[in-house]
Amino acid sequence: MIKKLLGVLALSLVSTLAFAEGGVHLDHAPDRITDLASLQNGAKLFVNDCLNCHSAHSMRYNRLTDLGLTDAEIKKNLLFTGDKVGDLMTIAMTPEDGKKWFGSTPPDLSVIARAKSTNFGPSGVDYVYTYLRSFYRDTSKKSGWNNVVFPNVAMPNVLWQMEGPRTYTSIETHEVADAKGTEHWVRTTTNYDADGFQTVKNEDLKGYEGESSQIGHFDSADPKTFAHFESNVADLSNFLGWMAEPSQLLRKQIGVWVMLFLFLFLFVAVRMNAAYWKHVR
Ligand code: HEC
Repeated sequence: MIKKLLGVLALSLVSTLAFAEGGVHLDHAPDRITDLASLQNGAKLFVNDCLNCHSAHSMRYNRLTDLGLTDAEIKKNLLFTGDKVGDLMTIAMTPEDGKKWFGSTPPDLSVIARAKSTNFGPSGVDYVYTYLRSFYRDTSKKSGWNNVVFPNVAMPNVLWQMEGPRTYTSIETHEVADAKGTEHWVRTTTNYDADGFQTVKNEDLKGYEGESSQIGHFDSADPKTFAHFESNVADLSNFLGWMAEPSQLLRKQIGVWVMLFLFLFLFVAVRMNAAYWKHVR
């Protein structure tokens, strides 16, 4: 028991992933929705690194003026393909080409952050934030990459240079049947090195009385580079969250004024109520 606890503690020093039923636990993305510098950085990353495979059909370049950018800045830094500032964020690649080249069509990302959100659980921004930080090299896959949040994903890790080298270790405790058909517990540790080669170690667990489980952890050779990458991913996810609902900044601002008005009105109503009933009581 103590050994198990120590094991858990040691693992928590590196970024640990816990698997629950139906997938990996999603990390909470830093909330930067009112931070214009973060949104601008996210827009830049999106246009540079994502907008060649993915489109954003419901977004126009000049909507980015909402993030404090001028038309001239958008033209200079974010327009590469001869598009005009009033154009939609479309791409040259057709869905058929995408399917042919990658085996799966890259989805339009206009509302991905809304599409991936859950009612009471993690938001779509949390999903994108965790997904983009969950790639590992895997030589057995066509693209050379795999992903913990989206196993066997067709998308390569496009931000790998920014991320720096990482290894991934998965530890699975499960029951297997031997040649005679009797079941026993085994702990399988699979390590993917920074080049994507795997080593698998199987350990027999005699007398194990727990449940089946799966955990995983990443180890970064260069934590400083990774921290910088992680902050960029937070900005990018933040931007995708904004793009899924660009009016949310205004909606939240208006919401605050409405609440203030209601409180003020409540005060007035209480005082008026007292004044009207004064003679009756
Ligand atoms: C080289 C092409 C390519 C680039 C560049 C690319 N993607 Fe993808 N992306 C794909 C493909 C292909 C899929 C579909 C994966 C599948 O269905 O297996 C995908 C899927 C996704 C998904 C959906 C995952 C899901 O759970 O459905 C998200 C989110 C995503 N990409 C975000 C991004 C972001 C953000 C960037 C920019 C950093 C980016 N992609 C850059 C090819 C690309």
